Amino acid sequence: MIHTKILGTGSYAPSNVVTNDDLTKIVDTSDEWIYSRTGIKKRHITQDEYTIDLAEKAAKKAIKDAQIDVNNIDLVIVATVTPDNAFPGVSNLLQKRLGLDEIMTFDINAACSGFIYALNIADKMIKSGSYKNALIVGAETLTRLTDWSDRNTCVLFGDGAGAFVISKSNENKIKDVITGSVSDDEGHLICQSPALKDPAKNVISKQDHIHMNGREVFKFATRIMPSTVEKLLKRNNMKKAAIDHVIAHQANARIIQKAAKTLNIPMDKMYLNIQKYGNTSAASVPLAIDQAIKEGVLKRGETFITVAFGGGFTYGGALIEF
Ligand code: ACO
Repeated sequence: MIHTKILGTGSYAPSNVVTNDDLTKIVDTSDEWIYSRTGIKKRHITQDEYTIDLAEKAAKKAIKDAQIDVNNIDLVIVATVTPDNAFPGVSNLLQKRLGLDEIMTFDINAACSGFIYALNIADKMIKSGSYKNALIVGAETLTRLTDWSDRNTCVLFGDGAGAFVISKSNENKIKDVITGSVSDDEGHLICQSPALKDPAKNVISKQDHIHMNGREVFKFATRIMPSTVEKLLKRNNMKKAAIDHVIAHQANARIIQKAAKTLNIPMDKMYLNIQKYGNTSAASVPLAIDQAIKEGVLKRGETFITVAFGGGFTYGGALIEF
């Protein structure tokens, strides 16, 4: 039977750091409001880098960390809602920057759950026997979609990228991955494409920024994250005590605290880096996992659950022994 494991990880965020105090100069807000409602202190915001640039830097770090010859990568998947073009995909551009030729590359959009979707797809493609080493990346420049006059949303987001090399293995390390969605047909979390024409009205849509009903998103997130963790534990016959860390999508520290309370998991098992990065959408999960590893929080041999929710509404979770 073919198993899979994480061979290496990497992450990157642009050097330009914007604090909550900086944001008080452009919208009516305060450090106290932002930190107490979200847990965010600062975020990294791109000035001259595109999604592909962030993806490339995180990918190269993951490949180095994996100690693998880049030519052994036979699959590249990039999860993003901020591709630089409708096509070619970020994954196709990344292939060229890595010097790879004639392999399968594609982008996916599952919003903030995108990286776990990419993990699920790559894991199953390797387990089918058709692929050996997949590079999966979550990369976003979400601040390019942000309405900087809307205090409800502009304080929440940041830019970044994270990447994994996952590979065929004799050891069963990536034990289970769940992905799913519940249709948000009321548009509680939506960003229409700025360049798309509305065929009914024959006009370019004005809904080119992120629009969010924060309370509805909060309700969905605090329901789906605990239920996904419980589902992973149940179908793998595992007790909560066997989980060393939960590394959740970093959208809001209060969402993570509420999920921990529902699950009865102590907060010291819930990794947080939202204070430094804000919500980086599909980059959030791999960025948090890579940082937890590099900080010495997540160690080889430990078992963790990663869990996410996002626009769509999408959700996903994975049970992994590092
Ligand atoms: N600074 C100061 N005041 C603000 C700000 C701000 N940045 N933003 C909103 N307010 C005000 C509101 O206008 C409102 O004022 P009012 O009472 O006079 O109308 C007041 O603060 C309270 O607003 P609420 O929306 O009730 O604030 P809440 O406590 O619910 O927190 C938040 C808002 C942080 C957005 C929360 O609802 C949340 O985190 N929701 C989930 C967000 C999320 O995870 N989104 C996913 C992101 S996108 C993705 O995943 C792709």
